[in-house]
Amino acid sequence: MLNGKTIVLGVTGGIAAYKAVELLRLLVKSGASVHVIMTSSATEFVTPLTFQTLSGNPVHTGIFNLVTEQEIGHISLADRADLFIIAPATANFIGKLANGIADDLLTTTVMATKAPVLIAPAMNVNMHENLIYRENEEKLRRHGYLFADPVSGYLACGWEGKGKMLEPALILDEARSALSLKDLKGLKILVTAGPTREEIDPVRYISNHSSGRMGYAIARAARARGAEVTLVSGPVSLGPPSGVELVNAVSAEEMRSAVITIAGKFDVIIKAAAVADYRPAHREVQKIKKHCGEESVELVKNCDILAELGKMKRSGQTLVGFAAETENLLKNAAAKLEAKNLDMIVANDVSAEGAGFNVETNIVRFIYRDGRSEELPLLTKETVAGEILDRVLILRR
Ligand code: CTP
Repeated sequence: MLNGKTIVLGVTGGIAAYKAVELLRLLVKSGASVHVIMTSSATEFVTPLTFQTLSGNPVHTGIFNLVTEQEIGHISLADRADLFIIAPATANFIGKLANGIADDLLTTTVMATKAPVLIAPAMNVNMHENLIYRENEEKLRRHGYLFADPVSGYLACGWEGKGKMLEPALILDEARSALSLKDLKGLKILVTAGPTREEIDPVRYISNHSSGRMGYAIARAARARGAEVTLVSGPVSLGPPSGVELVNAVSAEEMRSAVITIAGKFDVIIKAAAVADYRPAHREVQKIKKHCGEESVELVKNCDILAELGKMKRSGQTLVGFAAETENLLKNAAAKLEAKNLDMIVANDVSAEGAGFNVETNIVRFIYRDGRSEELPLLTKETVAGEILDRVLILRR
């Protein structure tokens, strides 16, 4: 979504300016070409050289800088941008924009653009609650400006409350969303992700190598494309995607009850979680002590959540499963598609290089009910997520 896009990152003078450096790094990593405009107070917090080095483009700071104006004037920057992101945006910047004041390069360029503008406010909690600020924000929202809302937390000024700039990774989600076609609008999508943990005793468990990246990428992409998304997640070390309802589950049984109770209301269910097939027959209350002989753990079977969803599938509901295989990919995945009453299965050979667990990429094959299958090349999980959602839309036509 961000690959090849031209983004203007406006940085205003707040302490959160240091976080704009991380945002810039994430934008560049996503393939965007980023041009930074800093207000003069922003340069008091972070040097233009930092942004210039990371963006690979000259940083624009003053409206009367003849060299940069000649090379790429502010109007040309306003015209070329696919998206403007203002992070952090101070109350002063928001006040000026809301009242048509264009007295520096950033406000002038923002007013001259037809591109979407995403504003990430950062300020003291009382400023954020100030009624004049609230009116300014409301006015901008009415005129189509997008906001990446600040969160509550400990603020640099010593206060606690709402006013802390949204984390850069979540602003990135909002940027993706701002640039996406809303072709999934109106759809309710349930995604499951990550592994499950089956406890043996208070210190040990059985699990698998799933990182949750694939499911999280699907949830993020679906939300960016306008869907209402719920993500049921096993224990992972990923941050929650922006704008997605997150339900945490640890064991397969917990995941089952979280999913089954809400499944009926979703149009699409995509089950990317790597659910443990077995759990210990008994969870010991105390830590199992080591003995001199061998030890074994008796296992009992977990419910197959996806098979249960296949049985209760209502008309109009699209059910997508995953198949993690190490051999006979096509045959094994096709059998799961049939047995679990799925509309499509995403098969991946988890032993192939660049595919499967704990990597950023995946090689997948889509298999359908009519026997068709398509193999995709090695792609990032972000791209695979988009490809899956494209197929879901086709299946629902
Ligand atoms: N699945 C599930 N509940 C389980 C096991 C699997 O919902 N108890 C779902 C997974 O989320 C995935 C699909 O079933 O979408 C296939 O999972 P996979 O581990 O590949 O296959 P299994 O059906 O468990 O079969 P096997 O382990 O024998 O390959």
